[in-house]
Amino acid sequence: MKPLTITSRLEVYETIEEIPQDVQDLMHQAIEVRDNAYAPYSNFKVGAAILLDNQEVVVGSNQENASYPSGLCAERTAVYAAGARFPNSKILKIAISAKSLRHKVVSPVPPCGACRQALVEYEVKQEEAIELYFMGETGKVVKAESIKDLLPLVFDNSCL
Ligand code: THU
Repeated sequence: MKPLTITSRLEVYETIEEIPQDVQDLMHQAIEVRDNAYAPYSNFKVGAAILLDNQEVVVGSNQENASYPSGLCAERTAVYAAGARFPNSKILKIAISAKSLRHKVVSPVPPCGACRQALVEYEVKQEEAIELYFMGETGKVVKAESIKDLLPLVFDNSCL
């Protein structure tokens, strides 16, 4: 038996004002689009903003459905829109913000496992890491240099 130790290094910023200006702008776009979430079942609204290497920003918000599994998270709404609109552009950064209509979300909200898997596909495709920043409604912002920092032992095309 040989142990396998997995480590990830994330950065934690105390407030949105501490992150670089370009990411603050991206996060504000995520916050703005969060209001477009259609979340009558969870009352939990998420916004995501993606910066591409052509300097375009593609946004997404969660869209729910009476048939619950038919809904989609903000991150996948955004990343699939980016892939559909700009298939040859690389994704540089993604900013995510979440808000509940029931309580103040003060802790950073990371993307769910399915969104991590969807996002990492584009890192593999573009052969370049995607920087990820996530937060709640207020408070700390967490940065990951790569989706893989949130998804070790990734399942990708090399497994097939
Ligand atoms: N949600 C997202 O949009 N992104 C995530 O990464 C986690 C969850 C949405 C899905 C659902 O509409 C609501 O938040 C509650 O789970």
